Amino acid sequence: MGERLVESAARPVIVVAALERAAGRSVRSLAGRWRCGTLQHVGLRGRESEQVVIASLLDGVRGFRSGVLVLRGQPGVGKSALLEDAQGRAGGMLVLRAVGVESEAEFAFAGLHQLLRPVLDRLDRIPDHLAAALRRAVGVDPVGPGGADDRFLVALAVLALMAEVAEEAPLLCLIDDAHWLDDASVTALVFVARRLAAERVALVFAARDGEARAFSVSGLPELRLEGLDAETAGALLASRCSASVPVEVRDRIVEWTGGNPLALSELPSMLTAGQLDGSEPLPARLPLTETVQHVFAERAERLPGPTRRVLLVAAAEDTGRPAIVLTAAQALGGAPEARDPA
Ligand SMILES: Nc1ncnc2c1ncn2[C@@H]1O[C@H](COP(=O)(O)OP(=O)(O)O)[C@@H](O)[C@H]1O
Ligand SMILES: [Mg+2]
Repeated sequence: MGERLVESAARPVIVVAALERAAGRSVRSLAGRWRCGTLQHVGLRGRESEQVVIASLLDGVRGFRSGVLVLRGQPGVGKSALLEDAQGRAGGMLVLRAVGVESEAEFAFAGLHQLLRPVLDRLDRIPDHLAAALRRAVGVDPVGPGGADDRFLVALAVLALMAEVAEEAPLLCLIDDAHWLDDASVTALVFVARRLAAERVALVFAARDGEARAFSVSGLPELRLEGLDAETAGALLASRCSASVPVEVRDRIVEWTGGNPLALSELPSMLTAGQLDGSEPLPARLPLTETVQHVFAERAERLPGPTRRVLLVAAAEDTGRPAIVLTAAQALGGAPEARDPA
């Protein structure tokens, strides 16, 4: 099918494979599949350069230089794993965590509430008018007859509270899935991120690339996570299999997954022992576990209708020629420019 289309658009193969599944192609039964211990815990592989960046951020904070970092990357590339790793390196620091939740994205300040809840008892140490604004924002105090507070006051209160907490110990705030944070929390946190100086506070955000709802902030330091390099990806794959995987099979799987750790971890459970040891051919199409399918199908569902039509046609036809795909999609109501969001 559309591998050539995938290559030409520089999309990972797994995305289109997920759409193949959405189109009802290549549906494989789990029965008889060889399970390779996908639940077994494996430490972080590769990512040395990212770990250096984070270690230097944490060292800076310990030395009273506040810092900010936004990790970006595709689903499954390892953003949450890197946040976890950062927490493991935060000895002697106070760590606050929040995770953006889609169902809470419309609740103003839900993210701040999650992040700051463990330190709200320190609110009496910041100026009264700021403490009052933050208490009302996160629902500790009722909103008065004047309505909700100025968001500027809330942002100032967050900055003051973090600075106050950091008097006790360097403070690390880890905010995962920031693309799903409510806008009010994003505004306050970005305000804080831009004003941090010598408070010894670090903010590390992780956000998905290419989501319809984006963590669109500019001017903050970013680190983009790509798939693991071939050697590291091969080692991760091998760790997920109980028998050795020949190099040709390994290379094909690494190419299929683009080094995405989630796909690498899950894929072996969808292949037979023979496919993994090279005695049987690999399937023509990439099989997907439910987890991987869910992650990518979810993204596909958020794309505009005409774009989804283009992708479904791409999944359903075999030549992989963009012109054919676009003509067919157009006939079904997908405009040519609809390929852009995907
Ligand atoms: N560098 C890595 N080495 C080993 N496993 C990893 C690595 N990065 C991620 N993983 C594993 O891959 C899966 C997906 O990673 P995760 O951090 O949840 O991705 P993301 O947050 O970007 O969607 C998890 O099971 C995680 O433990
Ligand atoms: Mg994650």
